[in-house]
Amino acid sequence: MRNFNEDNITQAVLERLSGCENERTRQISEALVRHLHAFLKEIEPTEAEWAGAIDFLTRTGQMCSETRQEFILLSDTLGVSMLVDALNHRFTGNATETTVLGPFYVEEARDLPLGASISHASDGPAMIVEGSVSDQHGEPIAGALIETWHADDHGFYDVQREAGLTALDMRARFHADENGRFWFRSIVPAFYPIPNDGPVGKMLDAQGRHPYRPAHVHFKVSAPGFETIVTHVFIEGDRYLDSDVVFGVKDGLIARLETIEGSMSPAGHEVTPGTALLAYPFVLPAKR
Ligand code: BEZ
Ligand code: FE
Repeated sequence: MRNFNEDNITQAVLERLSGCENERTRQISEALVRHLHAFLKEIEPTEAEWAGAIDFLTRTGQMCSETRQEFILLSDTLGVSMLVDALNHRFTGNATETTVLGPFYVEEARDLPLGASISHASDGPAMIVEGSVSDQHGEPIAGALIETWHADDHGFYDVQREAGLTALDMRARFHADENGRFWFRSIVPAFYPIPNDGPVGKMLDAQGRHPYRPAHVHFKVSAPGFETIVTHVFIEGDRYLDSDVVFGVKDGLIARLETIEGSMSPAGHEVTPGTALLAYPFVLPAKR
């Protein structure tokens, strides 16, 4: 077939895919072609605009390194990461809601004993995190793995500092005790801008958007026989809760940061008076 034009090219490309043996690959390729062609017909880009789009994607790729994932930022800021998350975690009932993983998760964090401080190279207001992990019937999940990471009180993750990953600061792995409880110490995180010195930052500027995320602590909670929950706990009152640049906030994930007046936390751990308390009960759904 020849003589392609705006009226017949979409069908021609779809027909060219008919020999694709893998059904899923064919389904995805067809949908990509249909939606991409429809998108172009809607916006009717000039050739300069299309060259600009290709340049944008090229620069997005070139910005990626061991510690910088510009494509994840692009997916996050266009609401795609949250959409993929929603499509894959249709949990019912009281299961803890999920949200974006983000680009700052590091698998090889330190395993620390309950009660340890995860912040050794950062200053900031003291915080104790006291949480629990249970199933949807309220039964504790002993030994559940809790991976946590967060920004400092200037809004930076360890990987964004010069020492980079070698610092492994404000991130750690814990195992819940026999009652499904866990606790650790750190500093209160601040709201922060996502890395915005690259193409995604330029895109946000062009769209008239700010680059901020409300203050939060990340958690990845897992246990054999249960769905893994990737989520954050957001701090109540943050000015960016309603305009998170990556659309990650859910009401059920917001917790009040209490101030502990005495020298004992509600769960009976010694603290300096004035320490902030972040408490959150995680509920894991059974594996489907
Ligand atoms: C984060 O919370 O770490 C994050 C999520 C999405 C984009 C940038 C950062
Ligand atoms: Fe974060």
